[in-house]
This record gives sequence, C-alpha cells and structure tokens, in this order.
Amino acid sequence: MLKLAVLVSGGGTNLQAIIDNIENGKITNATIAAVISNNKNAYALERAKAHGIAQVCISPKDFENRALFNEALLDYLVKAQIDLIVLAGYLVVVPQIVIERFRNRIINIHPSLIPAFCGTGYYGLKVHEAALKKGVKVSGATVHFVDEGTDTGPIIMQKAVDVLPGDTPEILQRRIMENAEWVLLPAAIDAIANGQVELRDNIVTVHAK
Ligand code: GRF
Repeated sequence: MLKLAVLVSGGGTNLQAIIDNIENGKITNATIAAVISNNKNAYALERAKAHGIAQVCISPKDFENRALFNEALLDYLVKAQIDLIVLAGYLVVVPQIVIERFRNRIINIHPSLIPAFCGTGYYGLKVHEAALKKGVKVSGATVHFVDEGTDTGPIIMQKAVDVLPGDTPEILQRRIMENAEWVLLPAAIDAIANGQVELRDNIVTVHAK
C-alpha cells in the first residue's frame, strides 16, 4: 500500500480528484497518509478534514529560519513513513534535503505541456496567460518527477487540451483542470502504486497493467 503525502497551498481540487479516485477504486494500492500545507487557510485542508485525512500546516513563517522549516518538513515525511510525495498546487520550493531523501519519489502536476510555459514564474493563471499570449492552439497538463530544477524532472504523463477562440486564462485553466489535471494526477499515482512506472536515463515508461 503506497503511503501518499499530498502537499497543497490552495483550493485543493487536485487533492479532491485524488481523494475521489481512491474512494471510487480508480486508484488502487495507495492511501493518503497526510495532507500538508504551508497555508493554514488553504481550503485543501478542509477537504482533507471532510474525508478524515490527517492534515497539517507546516509553514516557513512558523520557523526562525528556512533550514528549520526544511528539517521540520522532512522530519514529518520520514516519521509518517511516506512513500510518494504529491505536489498538488504546492507553492513552496521543495527543500533540497527532501528531494535527496525522496529521490524520484516526488511528483508534481503542472498546467501546461512541459517544456512549454514552465519554470520560474510560471504558476497558476500566469501559465495560461502566457499560452494565450503565444497563441498556442493546444495546451494541457503534465505530471513529472520533481528534481532540483523547476518543472524540469522526468515527464511521466501528459494530456493535451484544445485552446478555443475567446478563451480567457480562467476559462482555459478550468478546462485544463477538468480535462487534464484531475485525470492525469490520479492516473499517475495509480500507475506508480501498481509498479507500472519505469525510469531509465531520465526517460519514463508507463507499462500497461
Ligand atoms: C492547479 O492549476 C495546478 O495545475 C497547479 O496549481 C493549481 C492547484 O489547484 N499546480 P488546486 O489547489 O489543486 O485546486
């Protein structure tokens, strides 16, 4: 049984998709052991509470310095015996000590087809504003392993979504969330939980069940 920690900062719709897909059986061999947010007001924490999932706020603001926050986050993850860390709208830079300890066991959902519209400064609506400004006809979402870079780790899964005439950043964001993010993240977790994901020379292969 894969023990997940889902790291969140905001509304938690991706967390909700994971919760729903565990409850409806589309994700097997996995359980959410903890939801961790840097933002005590994150609605994602309410979603965890509503489903009886352990939730905690570990915020850099509550520590004298960043190193103490980094150690507290790592300590929580290790003590909870987490197998896979899932970043679902987590806006804090993942500490190097966490990346090292959980090498290739941290995944992130990014709301574009990496390597487009990703990296420093590309988060939330900014991603979709850039896509619309560029005039792309297709965007989408990517699930990837997290490494030391920003949105640079090996790509696990991607799903394309049409950009339509008249799209605003908000409309495009919603379409990508509904049609790509909320499908991809559960699918990636299920594939990892069932041993289907192989990483070799920075290239991921997802084998059939
Ligand atoms: C989503 O748009 C996701 O792509 C990005 O951050 C946002 C999180 O939304 N990583 P939510 O908190 O899961 O609703």
